Amino acid sequence: MSKEYKRTLITTALPYTNGPVHIGHLAGVYVPADIYARYLRLAGRPVTLVGGSDEHGVPITLKARAEGVTPQDIVDRYHALIKESFEGLGISFDVYSRTTSDIHADTASEFFRRLYENGQFIEKESMQLYDPEAGQFLADRYVTGECPHCHNPKAYGDQCEACGTSLNATDLIDPHSAITGSVPELRPTRHWYLPLDRWEPNLRQWILEGHKEWKSNVYGQCKSWLDMGLQPRAVSRDLSWGVPVPVEGAEGKVLYVWFDAPIGYISNTKELYPDSWETWWKDPETRIINFIGKDNIVFHCIVFPAMLMAYGDNFQLPDNVPANEFLNLEGDKISTSRNWAVWLHEYLADFPGKQDVLRYVLTANAPETKDNDFTWRDFQARNNNELVAILGNFINRVVVLTHKYFDGVVPAEGTLEPIDEALFAEMAELKNSLTENLETFHFREALKDAMAFARAGNKYLQETEPWKVWKENPARVATVLNVCVQVCASLAVVMEPFMPFMSEKLSAILALGKLDWNMVGARPVAAGTLLGKPEFLFEKIDDATIQAQVDRLVNTKRENEIRNFKPAPVQSEISIDDFGKVDLRVGTVLTCERVKKADKLLKFSIDDGTGTPRTIVSGIAKHYEPEALVGKQVIFVANLAPAKIRGIESQGMILSALNADGSLVVAAPSADVSAGAQVK
Ligand code: MF3
Ligand code: ZN
Repeated sequence: MSKEYKRTLITTALPYTNGPVHIGHLAGVYVPADIYARYLRLAGRPVTLVGGSDEHGVPITLKARAEGVTPQDIVDRYHALIKESFEGLGISFDVYSRTTSDIHADTASEFFRRLYENGQFIEKESMQLYDPEAGQFLADRYVTGECPHCHNPKAYGDQCEACGTSLNATDLIDPHSAITGSVPELRPTRHWYLPLDRWEPNLRQWILEGHKEWKSNVYGQCKSWLDMGLQPRAVSRDLSWGVPVPVEGAEGKVLYVWFDAPIGYISNTKELYPDSWETWWKDPETRIINFIGKDNIVFHCIVFPAMLMAYGDNFQLPDNVPANEFLNLEGDKISTSRNWAVWLHEYLADFPGKQDVLRYVLTANAPETKDNDFTWRDFQARNNNELVAILGNFINRVVVLTHKYFDGVVPAEGTLEPIDEALFAEMAELKNSLTENLETFHFREALKDAMAFARAGNKYLQETEPWKVWKENPARVATVLNVCVQVCASLAVVMEPFMPFMSEKLSAILALGKLDWNMVGARPVAAGTLLGKPEFLFEKIDDATIQAQVDRLVNTKRENEIRNFKPAPVQSEISIDDFGKVDLRVGTVLTCERVKKADKLLKFSIDDGTGTPRTIVSGIAKHYEPEALVGKQVIFVANLAPAKIRGIESQGMILSALNADGSLVVAAPSADVSAGAQVK
């Protein structure tokens, strides 16, 4: 940071209010933003953390339609749920408001009107998709069709999620209405466009020249957008849900959600500071930082800055936009519609008191430079092997030993030995690296630095062995425990941005009072301080708890497979004579057993009515216990050429049906028939 700023305004992408928030949102945006805000507060730097719900946009209206409720019902439900769960996780918003508020409608309308009056828009008529059955224009997610770039058949009218290209609804090949499924027609309509091309030189200058320090994923995306050449972008839509376009002759039109939502950052600041909000937006000594996910980069680095430039009046542009990549879940893309997620409100209910564990794992595994994967096994391992075994263990030992030898009263430090001095020197170095990493948004590395304090403490305790020294040299034990208590104090501070709940408990045990970044590496706990009772700050998570979460995901996957099942295409036609060649029969299972060393095979002996049992080997052992099939009737192909399978001659094939989720059932007549009866 070359310049000294007076204050920092941190914004977090306003989540769409059509569902709860999940670990992908948290890892990408809210946990890093909260770490940064908490760090600045500890460092004594003025900061405001702004959040809120993004309550407009098509997905919300589609969800309302599907449930037969109003869009307002949907956003009321999820706004409350999201706000409450963020609080539960300790995201320290100074304000968490919503874009259906009056103050936002006023702010967004005023913003639009000023641009309109200053000639900052182009107004033009164009042909847009219209659903005659629903009686409305179709924009954005109201249309699906084939992507003109990658030919994904399920692209949306604003974006193809398969290749990431942003689209116009009219670009789609073979479009269909998401409301009625019908084929839309083209009708003329008028809209307002923000000519981004007018701002291209300023944007190039500001980003490509002025912000070479931005993360390479962010800088690179901006450069490629700018190099492709910017086009005017429509900022209004023919919809009924949104902020009405505040000019005459605009009935039935609202602001495009990506026009009004970022203005929400301003509205929410206004709500928080009705009198001084302008200082946070227009004073060049304010630094603005936008925390977002990678899919939001163009809107925060190109579109919203162009809006702010067009508005003028000294609005400040962001100083940095530390966008993250995506977090996957157990190897698959997180998806709200497929319910493939770990939902924050469910996590909080399933793991009470374990907010810090999730915060820790999401930071240790944050998708800062590339997409990353969350797995429940990794979650368990990090909790058990790192939080419990290293951090919790060290703190617990220090507090227990201080109680054991000194009745919980922190002993005075005597003469420091080289090993004590070395530990303090190591802490000073760690503090520098940790501070540098936090300042530059390298939170994974910063967390590693913070954990290194605990590792250093454990190692020190292992080497000084106060439990062995106590008998002959209690004075040395006093020094060692004093040093250890000071390490715990540093831990309370350095962990606060990452794990505020444990930090609070630890601060109380150490009677630290208000935490301050300057305490790190210093010796803030006075001799004579009475420590609180020892307490386990972390506890092991067992296999059954993790298995329950994994099972839930396995079930979700199964439900999705069944819901999305598409029958395979029918094979090429055959004649009745061809069919007649296949001799299908009913048989009764006499015996059934597993084939040794072949985990897929069952060997059947079948009564086919001839009096001589027939042997058939079938690859269905994963789906049935052999005993369960004895006495059952099956349908088999009787005239298939015999084949040797694992040395057994199989005389036919048993028919079965494969379910969408991969399960399998044997085909059988609907009531018992004579063995050997033909199936036609
Ligand atoms: N709702 C958007 C999303 O979830 C983010 C909006 S960010 C804002 O992708 F700046 F527009 F508020
Ligand atoms: Zn595509």
